[in-house]
Parts: sequence; structure tokens; C-alpha cells
Amino acid sequence: MHETIHIKQAGQANEDILSAMQRLMTQLTSAPPPNIEELQEMLGAGATTTLFLARQADNTIIGMAALSVFRVPSGLKAWIEDVVVDEAHRGKGIGEALTEACIEHARALGVHSIHLTSNPARVAANQLYQKLGFQLHETNLYQLRLS
Ligand SMILES: CC(C)(COP(=O)(O)OP(=O)(O)OC[C@H]1O[C@@H](n2cnc3c(N)ncnc32)[C@H](O)[C@@H]1OP(=O)(O)O)[C@@H](O)C(=O)NCCC(=O)NCCS
Repeated sequence: MHETIHIKQAGQANEDILSAMQRLMTQLTSAPPPNIEELQEMLGAGATTTLFLARQADNTIIGMAALSVFRVPSGLKAWIEDVVVDEAHRGKGIGEALTEACIEHARALGVHSIHLTSNPARVAANQLYQKLGFQLHETNLYQLRLS
């Protein structure tokens, strides 16, 4: 990274994170961004999700990645979700740094394996994950839409 970018865990939910998330989510998905109560739930005490934020020197949030860690009978597992870097700041190593932060956090917690999905059309994302050692895992991925 050439500029001074800091990757840090998000603290408590606030309007600054909420508005950055609303802006970033439009560059990722058509799913609506969380409201403040949902953000508080995600970042509150006992939450299983850690949100990493990329901030410029002036504290502007320009990227994010979420890591969810959960224990199931077969061990401590994790998912990485919602990795996105503001369009104006792509190609500078920020997505890589965010994903590495998730990986290191999971490793420190004793996670056995990290999972994620990425649409094959997302060329940059697929390259990024493979660069960091993620391997295509042949399995049937099912989804049941409930809403
Ligand atoms: C995917 C995304 C997060 C990458 O963030 P980024 O900060 O631009 O990526 P980085 O600069 O850290 O690049 C790291 C690696 O990703 C890959 N990569 C990044 N941009 C790429 C591009 N345009 N084409 C191909 N590979 C690319 C490369 O392997 C790169 O390593 P290299 O620089 O050694 O070649 C960003 O493009 C993005 O926000 N895309 C839209 C949202 C999205 O698709 N999110 C993923 C959901 S699964």
C-alpha cells in the first residue's frame, strides 16, 4: 500500500461506520445495508462477527471485510463475507490487507478452516482469494431463500 491506510477492527457501531457501510455495500450487492440497530447487533457484546475497516490517515473508511467465527460439532469454523474496497482506491493492496486481517484473526482464534464464496464473474476477488491461498473446494453449495 502506498498511502497510509490502517486496517483496524471496528469498535462500537456509530453513524460513521453506518454511512461508510451504506456507501460500500452499493458497490458489492443489491442487498440493503444494515440499519443502526442491525449494526449494533453485529458489533455488540457476544457477537460472532468481527468487522475490519480500512481507513485513510484522515479516518475516512474506504474498505471493509467481515469475519464470522462459529463453533459447530466439527470444529471452529469461519466465513469471510462482504469484502469491498471503494472503487477509487482499488488496486493498491487494500483488499488483500483486509482479507489478511481476517485470516490472521481467525488463525489467532484457532479456526481450522475459513470458507467464502465468490461469483466467478468477480475476477478481481477470485484472483485475490487464490493469491492468499484459498483453494476451490468442490462441493454442492445450497441456498434456501427465506425472504
Ligand atoms: C475484490 C476487491 C475487494 C479487491 O480489492 P483491491 O484493494 O482492489 O485488491 P488489491 O489491490 O488488494 O489486490 C490484491 C490482489 O487481488 C487481485 N486483483 C485485484 N484487482 C484485480 C483486477 N482488477 N483484476 C485481476 N486481479 C485483481 C490480484 O491478485 C491482486 O494481487 P496483485 O496486485 O499482486 O496482482 C475489489 O476489487 C472490490 O471491492 N470489488 C468489488 C466487490 C467485490 O467483488 N467483492 C468481493 C466479494 S466476494
